[in-house]
Amino acid sequence: MIILKSSDELKAMRRAGRVVAQAHELVRDLIKPGVSTLELDAAVEEFLLKMNSIPAFKGYHGYPATICASVNEVVVHGIPNRDIILEEGSIIGIDIGAFVDGFCGDSAWTYPVGEIDQTVAALLETTEQALYKGIDQAIVGNRLSDISHAVQKHVEERGFSVVRDFVGHGIGRDMHEEPQIPNFGPPGRGPRLKSGMTLAIEPMVNVGDYYVEVLADNWTVVTRDRSWSAHFEHTVAITDEGPEILTSL
Ligand code: CO
Repeated sequence: MIILKSSDELKAMRRAGRVVAQAHELVRDLIKPGVSTLELDAAVEEFLLKMNSIPAFKGYHGYPATICASVNEVVVHGIPNRDIILEEGSIIGIDIGAFVDGFCGDSAWTYPVGEIDQTVAALLETTEQALYKGIDQAIVGNRLSDISHAVQKHVEERGFSVVRDFVGHGIGRDMHEEPQIPNFGPPGRGPRLKSGMTLAIEPMVNVGDYYVEVLADNWTVVTRDRSWSAHFEHTVAITDEGPEILTSL
């Protein structure tokens, strides 16, 4: 069942989204060569707690940290570590989730570390654009897979591939609600989109092919061919006035 949010519930979703967006603003400025992913995690955790929000990932199915920090060939769910030190030319996907007043915001962004090469820059640009192509389809009366299709089309036109094994999701009182939102598939399928739905749309895009595998820590997802991967995610509300991005400032 897809849970529709009332206008009061949407207000809480906006507050949660805003804190997540502010946390991204903070972490973006800390990303530079020499910094460990554990330092980024500590800074975000401190900020979220200061804002009276609750980190959504920590403890979720045993996940040990506040953020996911996914470097280069890591697609998602990289665990922050004092020994993972950012290097010039790398990319890092930072995923942040937080609860405010019982509602969850969830957003990911992939950041360059210093200067990155041209193909990698195109990967980031394409994945971000694909997220917005998907959001553009999050309108009343469309079907869910119109989002999926718009993402896939944009990515594949540019010669990259969309990950199949992980998907976006409904979000609200729980971080993961129905429906699942694949980043691929034909348009015109699935439930009709309604005002009051809140969705986390999150394309994961690889330079090489779309296969992924999970490392022995049971969390870290990497591309099978070890090509680099990007991840962008926003929490979005569907309203009669169009899609409203909750995780931007
Ligand atoms: Co998510």
